Amino acid sequence: NDVLRKNLKIVRGCPITYAFASGLEKIEQFQSRRDDIVIATYPKSGTTWISEILDMILNDGDVEKCKRDFITAKVPMLEMVLPGVRTSEYLLVNKTSYIPALMESPFQCMCLGMKMGRGIEQLEKNPSPRLVKTHLPIDLIPKSFWENNCKMIYLARNAKDVAVSYYHFDLMNNLQPLPGSWEEYLEKFITGNVAFGSWFNHVKSWWKKKEEHPILFLHYEDMKENPKQEIKKIARFLEKNLSDEMLDKIIHHTSFEMMKDNPLVNYTHLPSMLMDPSKSSFMRKGIAGDWKNYFTVAQNEKFDAIYKKEISETELQFRMEI
Ligand code: PPS
Repeated sequence: NDVLRKNLKIVRGCPITYAFASGLEKIEQFQSRRDDIVIATYPKSGTTWISEILDMILNDGDVEKCKRDFITAKVPMLEMVLPGVRTSEYLLVNKTSYIPALMESPFQCMCLGMKMGRGIEQLEKNPSPRLVKTHLPIDLIPKSFWENNCKMIYLARNAKDVAVSYYHFDLMNNLQPLPGSWEEYLEKFITGNVAFGSWFNHVKSWWKKKEEHPILFLHYEDMKENPKQEIKKIARFLEKNLSDEMLDKIIHHTSFEMMKDNPLVNYTHLPSMLMDPSKSSFMRKGIAGDWKNYFTVAQNEKFDAIYKKEISETELQFRMEI
């Protein structure tokens, strides 16, 4: 399956997964709706978790309604453009599979079961208010989202846990370049030579952007520690009233233990040719502080020095464990 793995492409200075890079021009022209809600994250920061939380909030904690489809369809990824895959050419057979009207390539076949051919096409089908997932850095976000003043939620996670999670994801995700050894990977992560670029630039630019745009900036570690408090913050931001009963249902349904075993959100619906569960699972550990099992003392010291230099000029604060 390594045949699918190709180098990242640089798009306006940012390394992007090759499969998505070709579609980014179209994305520039994307027309948002005023009530779109954007979920922006650096990869591996808890995107799937907050996506399911948001869908639950919008559906008043109704678990059955949230089981209507896969997370990749309910919360399409804006920049998801798999080459040769046009979802409109597929006939929906049932909730989980498509028959292609045209099957041009094995790559296209591979994408059938996953309902993630093109994020934009899926978004056009979804009813308002739409949830939009993106990992794009600020500069690559379509301007229509800024013009329409769309609400955005940015979820950040401490860099060390992100690096560990991303390393395992790149082991299993056959669209990404091979990560190499942990040591080699960490070097690439630090220099921003990974898909969607530097973690430092990503979190800093989104943090700054909230001065001029309605962005709710949240932390993975706070969600882990006190999900009720953080879900309430989100509900307030979206002007949604949630009863205590609804809140409890949301917390329960979106706990790591529940999401890990939920095939609609745990990415096991993707073909193993694309995401290989023998290498790692998407829902891996779901904790804060796992980096301690991977960073050597020397790696940690080096990382801390860079981290201090990059982050100390901001008011950003990350907890490395809880
Ligand atoms: S992606 O591919 O960028 O969209 O991945 P993303 O969803 O952002 O991040 C995956 C990591 O989030 C963890 N996760 C959770 N943690 C706590 N609670 C819940 N409910 C939850 N759901 C997903 C997931 O396990 C990945 O982190 P690691 O550290 O690898 O376990």
